[in-house]
Amino acid sequence: MLDREDCISEISRLREELHRHNFLYYIKNAPVITDAEYDAMLRQLQELEAQNPDLVTDDSPTRRVGAKPLDEFPVFNHSIPLLSLANAFNDGELRDFDIRVRKVIPDVEYNYVCELKYDGLAVALHYENGIFTKGATRGDGFQGEDITDNLRTVRTIPLKLMPEPGIEIPVSLEVRGEVFMTRGSFDKLNENRMNSGEPLFANPRNAAAGSLRQLDSAVTATRKLDFFAYSLPTEIPGVKTHFEAMEYLGKAGFPINEHIKLCSNIEEVIEYCQLWIEKRSELPYDIDGVVLKVNRLSLQEELGAVSRSPRWAIAFKLPSTEVITKLLDIEVSVGRTGSLTPVAILEPKEVDGSVVGRATLHNEDEIKRKDLRIGDHVIIHKAGAVIPEVIAPVTEKRDGSERFFEMPKACPVCGEVVFRPEDEAVTRCTNMECPAQVKERIRHFASRRAMDIEGFGEKIVDQMVEKGLIKNPAQLYELTLDLILPLERMGKKLAEKLIANIAEAKNKDLHQVLFAMGIRHVGEHIAKVLTKQHRTIESLMSATADELQEIKEIGPEVAASVVEFFSHEKNRHIVEKLKGEGVIKEAGDEPEEADSADSEISGKSFVLTGTLPDYGRTEMSKLIESKGGRVVSSVSSSTNYVLAGEAAGSKAEKAKKLGIPIISQEDILKMMGMRE
Ligand code: IVH
Repeated sequence: MLDREDCISEISRLREELHRHNFLYYIKNAPVITDAEYDAMLRQLQELEAQNPDLVTDDSPTRRVGAKPLDEFPVFNHSIPLLSLANAFNDGELRDFDIRVRKVIPDVEYNYVCELKYDGLAVALHYENGIFTKGATRGDGFQGEDITDNLRTVRTIPLKLMPEPGIEIPVSLEVRGEVFMTRGSFDKLNENRMNSGEPLFANPRNAAAGSLRQLDSAVTATRKLDFFAYSLPTEIPGVKTHFEAMEYLGKAGFPINEHIKLCSNIEEVIEYCQLWIEKRSELPYDIDGVVLKVNRLSLQEELGAVSRSPRWAIAFKLPSTEVITKLLDIEVSVGRTGSLTPVAILEPKEVDGSVVGRATLHNEDEIKRKDLRIGDHVIIHKAGAVIPEVIAPVTEKRDGSERFFEMPKACPVCGEVVFRPEDEAVTRCTNMECPAQVKERIRHFASRRAMDIEGFGEKIVDQMVEKGLIKNPAQLYELTLDLILPLERMGKKLAEKLIANIAEAKNKDLHQVLFAMGIRHVGEHIAKVLTKQHRTIESLMSATADELQEIKEIGPEVAASVVEFFSHEKNRHIVEKLKGEGVIKEAGDEPEEADSADSEISGKSFVLTGTLPDYGRTEMSKLIESKGGRVVSSVSSSTNYVLAGEAAGSKAEKAKKLGIPIISQEDILKMMGMRE
């Protein structure tokens, strides 16, 4: 153990090093150490800070993982309002803008800076003595939301400035810019959300906004957000133009976009806009336009603003080219989680630099809403200049030969009957053996929260399925050493370990196996609720939807989904196999969960708010659940209690309004029988 003095100096050394490597990695794109070395250093710092909580500071690199969740964002007053930009939609409107500028400043030479218009969220960042202290959203321009904790998790926002030699940082500094998500990160995020059954984000902008407006910054920390600085409201001696301001920010350690360009007149600006109309899809992030700004700051001041838009800047909105083509057919593809997606097969046409032959139509309702028929002439474009989209049919061109689309009744991949739950837009195949889904189903079955079979990562599962070793989760138990030894990168030791892991993980409670089966809407909690009532799999499989709905907490969606799942012969067959292997036992054999049945909180729902004196949020949630209670995130009339700690905010207010009892840590401990 280090003594206090050593701790202080080691913590400060690690922080300096981590800031430097962060800067080299994220801003300079020139890392000099490996990710593993970085992580090791970060862990060392985390440990030292955990031992010395009083030494934790706001600019510590460990703060990037998120702070404690908030009930609501505090209001942030912008000392200099954030203006918004007027739009120009074509070259003529750009030239008009230039004429207006010239009228106000007739006798001076001026030039423009052109920048991309990043499609994200405007934020204002505040630094005191080079340390990031506060950050806020734009809001209405005067008042935004204080999202400091969330912004700290954005890796490209410097927590501590590392200016180049000769660059002076003022005591107070404000920098503005855009937080956004690259398309690559967006795709990964949506893929993960799809796998865990969460709703998808429509585009990277919504994903960035949703991530930044999380009350729990630990969630924001898991999203890969990015930042470009585009304005410097603080006056800096020697900085006389916007271009110099951008150079200054770059040297101060902020990420600056590489495509910023000086243009000496409006024709050069138009050329720049033209270039990005053509090249926008080559960028790894979405842009929705180009911003042009009069370069000299003194001229910006002279031009001023009208109705909250500056007269010295304008946004050129990039058009998306619309093309007419023919809808030849509508195919249906089956996703990894069983969703059936209609896909438009189009007569291939070039749109904004690439040939488009297919476009997702999302679901049946979308096709009806747009009134698309097979054989129609349709207008297509690229949404966000990237994703092909069918906008509408050209109804005047119909000749009567067009056909309506009908969703198939059978899965196009496995032939099983498909299912569209009431009130849902998506049709699904729920066959556990469907080849389109089998990898995902096995991965879920083996995952930590389900059967918890160690070593069954994505790559192993992919190989086993591709080599035809397993077609459904029950076949995991038929694997032998001889079967898996020929797999790539498989040694005898590993193979033996995998087989042993499968056998070891057999002994699970019925609710875990039920969750592992991947029935839609049957998450961990619902699985427990179902098996509490139906203590054998036979009982559950023979229950009708009405019977299931008699169980508290089971609504029509869950009931329909369970009944539909077990209506498939193939799924019932897999259940039989799992029974034969001893994976499914009678629920009655389970030990009762500790005193959950007779605890006073059993079946009651709780909302947690504020900071409890002795328990963390997760710790208290687990405790409540272990006693049969439920923790929900927002207050509604069906909430039974609001458990409020210190600094409880809007949730406690709402509870008061709805007349829901507000209780303390002491109260709940008594209710759970943990206090006299
Ligand atoms: S300058 C007064 N530059 O566009 C001018 N804005 O209405 C202040 N935006 O939501 C903005 N890229 O977040 C500027 N390179 C850029 C920008 C940019 C995106 C956004 C900004 C705001 C909107 C302006």
